[in-house]
Amino acid sequence: MNHVKSIVVLTGAGISAESGIKTFRADDGLWEDHRVEDVATPEAFERDPRLVQKFYNQRRKPLLNDEVVANAAHRALAKLQREFDGAFLLVTQNIDNLHEQAGSQSVLHMHGEILKMRCKATGDIFSCYNDIDVSDLCDCCGEANNLRPHIVWFGEMPLYMNEIGDAISGCDLFISIGTSGNVYPAAGFVQMAKHAGAQTLEINLDESAVAANFDRGIYGKAGDVLPVWVDGFLGT
Ligand code: OAD
Repeated sequence: MNHVKSIVVLTGAGISAESGIKTFRADDGLWEDHRVEDVATPEAFERDPRLVQKFYNQRRKPLLNDEVVANAAHRALAKLQREFDGAFLLVTQNIDNLHEQAGSQSVLHMHGEILKMRCKATGDIFSCYNDIDVSDLCDCCGEANNLRPHIVWFGEMPLYMNEIGDAISGCDLFISIGTSGNVYPAAGFVQMAKHAGAQTLEINLDESAVAANFDRGIYGKAGDVLPVWVDGFLGT
């Protein structure tokens, strides 16, 4: 793969699993004991903002008190970005900050970020290192109940789609790591990459729903197999 000049990497919940963050599609179909519709839709937020804020406050806390830290797979991607001498873009579906904690730069969080909040009225985005309470007054509009987690909920548009599309159209290696391939548009990136003539590699615990679309798959825990793959690729 020495002729590779441009890499796009897509990550999902599986890359943070070894850090202790639960993935979404567990056998019981629940996400942290909630139905996704109860906590991850704009309708849920309208219906019960207190429950939704509490849910995301709970998800934010372990990242702030270092209960959850980056693992060997996050570090391997940071190394790849540092040492690869071509173009590199890391796109993640994850809302945690573990890629940044490991040293990755300019990560595109297509499903938003738990350490940010947004004003519903103005769209302004702020850092968020505390719980959000429904009674908190927004810094930009001064209103209560206008602050929401900066998260893309079901039924909302993922972020950075133009930048991601441009990077995939110009890449010659696309790697997908720790994602089940159930949620579009991310699950369709592999086809976009193939259309652009890129080589495609899936790294996951098991075959994803779109495994057949990849040229190659490496199956195992990301924290075990990714550092080995990165070292082999970089020749280190
Ligand atoms: P999923 O929970 O659907 O899939 C996680 C994948 O990671 C599965 O295929 C697991 O087999 C794999 N996996 C688990 N542990 C692993 C490990 N240690 N190493 C490698 N792979 C491992 O999570 P996503 O595909 O990220 O969207 O889910 C996509 C989107 O669905 C999420 O971003 C979220 C969710 O609804 C929104 O919230 C908008």
